[in-house]
Amino acid sequence: MGTTLSTSRPRPGRPRSRVRLVTIGLAAAILAVPSAVAAADDAGAPQAPGDSLRAIAAREGLRIGTAVDMAKLGTDTAYTSVVADQFSVVTPENVMKWDAVEPTRGTYDWQAADRLVSFAEQHDQLVRGHTLMWHNQLPGWLTSGVADGSIGTAELRDILHQHVTDEVGHFRGRIWQWDVANEVFANSWDSHPLADGVNGDDFWVQHLGEGVIADVFRWAHQADPKALLMYNDYNITGEDGTNAKFQAVYDFVKRLRAQGVPIDGIGEQGHLDTQYGFDPQTFQADLQAFGDLGLKVAVTEADVRTFVSGTGADEVPTDQLAAFAQPYEFSAMLTGCRLVRQCISFTAWGVDDGDSWIPNTFSGEGYGLLYDARLRPKQAYFALRQDLLLGLSAHRTDG
Ligand code: XIL
Repeated sequence: MGTTLSTSRPRPGRPRSRVRLVTIGLAAAILAVPSAVAAADDAGAPQAPGDSLRAIAAREGLRIGTAVDMAKLGTDTAYTSVVADQFSVVTPENVMKWDAVEPTRGTYDWQAADRLVSFAEQHDQLVRGHTLMWHNQLPGWLTSGVADGSIGTAELRDILHQHVTDEVGHFRGRIWQWDVANEVFANSWDSHPLADGVNGDDFWVQHLGEGVIADVFRWAHQADPKALLMYNDYNITGEDGTNAKFQAVYDFVKRLRAQGVPIDGIGEQGHLDTQYGFDPQTFQADLQAFGDLGLKVAVTEADVRTFVSGTGADEVPTDQLAAFAQPYEFSAMLTGCRLVRQCISFTAWGVDDGDSWIPNTFSGEGYGLLYDARLRPKQAYFALRQDLLLGLSAHRTDG
């Protein structure tokens, strides 16, 4: 059956050769750009990545990124090659979070994070530091100290200040963008939003008051004046059906900017789910509104999940249309970013479906990334690559 289909179907000869020509022309053009090729050489990658996402996007000054799992980088060869070849910016998925860098109070462990930063430098990649102030993945000594009252408010504030100063200071000059504050705004389902939309139940806001948000930006700026300091969150570009969370973040950062707080940009995480629908116009308009405030914007944690049957390499969307919605929504997010001049990077939250946070977090869901569990590029990967190729001639002619 499979053989019959593949032999009886005429091959689309002309479009293929046209694509090949574009690719060859592009590869030739890329050869003139040392960074992209040097990266592949350093990694000892088998194939020249002239048609890689990073190389094509570099032509328009856009960085394509991935979150990196440090349990695999350097040990899993295929995984490591994909990270080196396809991406020009990397985010540590976990190893810069507080519980990872300071598991015991006063004793830092920078090993895994240092390894990622060195890898990035060797492969001509930039680094998104993630993340300084977040309610999750805090070390046990801190949360239990707060819970049992042994760490009071003044001390907690000092601890946070020290954490930001030490971590940003440790990587000073080597981080492109820092996610300084992460997920402090209330969602439509949260029960205690403050008047301006900040989540009153957020660990940091609850204990230190919302003024701490401006303070972490000030502290981070003191520790590394050159890093781009971002506020990072999800559902801030219309994803939950209303634009209320966007509006709250917009009004808030506008105020911070007016007060001279050193905030440089907004990270829209981009965790989509095919069951909820997606409005590319709102996504783009909201990114643009942030851009018009004089901020940079970035898509920082893109994935598009859907319900699946099977696991690992056998994972398939249960709804056939989801196999089309998944690459479409990925593509629409990339397009939204590219149409906003201030959008500087587009990062997927992981490389492959075998190594994604989705199945552990959203029961019955998966299929969210650009590669399958065997590290084969999926339709979403090809959709992004085609988008980037298509834009080569027309896009950002001023860049
Ligand atoms: C997730 C990681 O992917 C998981 O490995 C970890 O167990 C939990 O955190 N928003 C964020 C990321 O800002 O840091 C989260 O990453 C996903 C949601």
